[in-house]
Amino acid sequence: MSNYHIKHLEEYFQVYRKSVTNPELFWEEIAEERFLWRKKWDRVLSWDFEKPDIRWYEGAKLNITENCIDRHLLPIGDKTALIWEPNDPSEAAQYLSYRELARRVNKMANILKKLGIRKGDRVCIYLPMIPELAIAVLACARIGAIHSVVFAGFSSVALATRIQDSSCKMLITSDGSYRGNKTIDLKGIADEALKSCPSIENVLLVKRIGSEVQLQSGRDHWLTEFWEEAAEECTPELMEAEDPLFILYTSGSTGKPKGMVHTTAGYMVYTAYTFRNVFQYKDEDIHWCTADIGWITGHSYIVYGPLLNGATTVMFEGVPNYPDFGRFWEIVDKHRVTQFYTAPTAIRSLAKESLDYVNKYSLSSLKILGTVGEPINEEAWHWYNDNIGKGRCPIVDTWWQTETGGILISPIPWSTPNIPTYATLPLPGVQPALLDDEGHELKGNNVQGKLCLKYPWPGIARTIWGDHQRFKDTYFSTFKNMYFTGDGALRNDVGYYRITGRVDDVIIVSGHNLGTAPIEDAINEHPAVAESAIVGFPHDIKGNALYGFVTLKESGESRDHNNLKKEINQTIAEKIGSIAKLDKILFASGLPKTRSGKIMRRILRKIATGDYADLGDISTLLNPEVVEEIIEKSKEV
Ligand code: WT7
Repeated sequence: MSNYHIKHLEEYFQVYRKSVTNPELFWEEIAEERFLWRKKWDRVLSWDFEKPDIRWYEGAKLNITENCIDRHLLPIGDKTALIWEPNDPSEAAQYLSYRELARRVNKMANILKKLGIRKGDRVCIYLPMIPELAIAVLACARIGAIHSVVFAGFSSVALATRIQDSSCKMLITSDGSYRGNKTIDLKGIADEALKSCPSIENVLLVKRIGSEVQLQSGRDHWLTEFWEEAAEECTPELMEAEDPLFILYTSGSTGKPKGMVHTTAGYMVYTAYTFRNVFQYKDEDIHWCTADIGWITGHSYIVYGPLLNGATTVMFEGVPNYPDFGRFWEIVDKHRVTQFYTAPTAIRSLAKESLDYVNKYSLSSLKILGTVGEPINEEAWHWYNDNIGKGRCPIVDTWWQTETGGILISPIPWSTPNIPTYATLPLPGVQPALLDDEGHELKGNNVQGKLCLKYPWPGIARTIWGDHQRFKDTYFSTFKNMYFTGDGALRNDVGYYRITGRVDDVIIVSGHNLGTAPIEDAINEHPAVAESAIVGFPHDIKGNALYGFVTLKESGESRDHNNLKKEINQTIAEKIGSIAKLDKILFASGLPKTRSGKIMRRILRKIATGDYADLGDISTLLNPEVVEEIIEKSKEV
């Protein structure tokens, strides 16, 4: 039995049992099975969730880029490591072999050093999805600098906040970026941000769109200035297991963004292991995760997880609807993608469009489909399964968080029998617990509660940059000796987990606990509905009542809205029960979303209660314009 690559359900159960009976032995064997360690660990794990203080593989020395790149050069140096697909399909794709990736990462690493970057320095990377983004990430790791990637869709204020919070010494950005038929002036945004970022000494600029940019002399440098003369060899910095590898900001429910700190050895072992099992990686596979590297999904399953396994990973610069709604499927066909990993919101938006966009292309290369980021509703799941997977590709509904570093709950393809909308079973080494409000663990099956983890796994974040107290308060103080995820979940009769959504999205109506996700699921089953979000609002008799914000498919737009409302409630009554019927329904052309595609229920909650004055900061939304529309319409509902 190999711990490393699970092949059937019985094996999963065996490995899982072992992983919880003797976690240290389990994770020691995983770490020994591959990877290049410059020095082995003295101790596999020490932990204390009270402090909290979590250490994996302490005493070990390594460099993660030797594991992502150098280790592969001899056996598979000519293999394609990175396929880059540009925004515009008429521009040529790029194929970087492991050897070429090594060359470019080393050059970049030497340039960072030349510009004064040393081990432990923070480097902010604000780049579009071009190869230099992955290269910059790896170059930082090569020399022990801590990368902080900021999604290139963020505003100058958001960028400045993040640079300031971790006092980055350098910014790597580009003249601009392409996004569909738009170009974005990244350098302009960066200049604006840098007005309030005194810690930045140098700006390294990648040329992408060829626009005229103003260089601030002494501060701004084109990458090309240094490229030719930079050496192609760069000795990797020897890192301690618990040296920080990167900071990645995630928004909290309140306050400023939290700089989650991930460290070297544990993150490496965990992303490598989960990539291999969840995507059942095989040597000839072409793995495409559609996320941006600006999110944890991109860090773990575009860059680190795939490269640690010597895989071929696809990086896509553009958007799903440019030049048309068939772009994803065109790319799958063009590069013969085997694993396709995307978000439910993308699936729903593509499912709204004609199937002709799908059927124009061959999807026969696909073996496994994945989703991540939010609960997937049943209708979207079936659309994905039927039209993309053609009923023959297992779907992995992967539950995890920025804080967890890698996937925690997910089916293992061909091993775990699937049930739509269930993330199913914990991966080996992952010990979930469901707790009631009093903090009692709910044992057995058929229970629902707050999702916690009662034992550390190697990929867990170690702290919040500069604010360990907040780390403790946010994740380790709600329940004693537990990492609290902020999510609710149920465990069904066979022990499968279904994530019911953030626990702050639970609404109590007439004393009944109603999760918003299942109701949204039900509404989305209505043939005229594209997407929906449910929030609660105060009600004299019921305590709370439900308010549904609904967007319609094109076919629904022409329908009588009063009839539609009745039908939607009828659907809910059928799927869940009359208790879950909506008191108010508002039809809008879109729902307010974060740039990562999450519906901002906070704003909808305010609107539902008629509290228009204090909507908070809506400038970071993907589509701030719909807020105005929804406010106006809400006055009539
Ligand atoms: C939150 C974490 C980790 C990847 C991207 C999101 C929700 C994530 C699922 C899923 C239901 C999910 C949770 C979680 N979430 N995956 N498969 N099913 N919900 O990272 O921005 O840190 O968000 O996303 O609510 O807590 P993130």
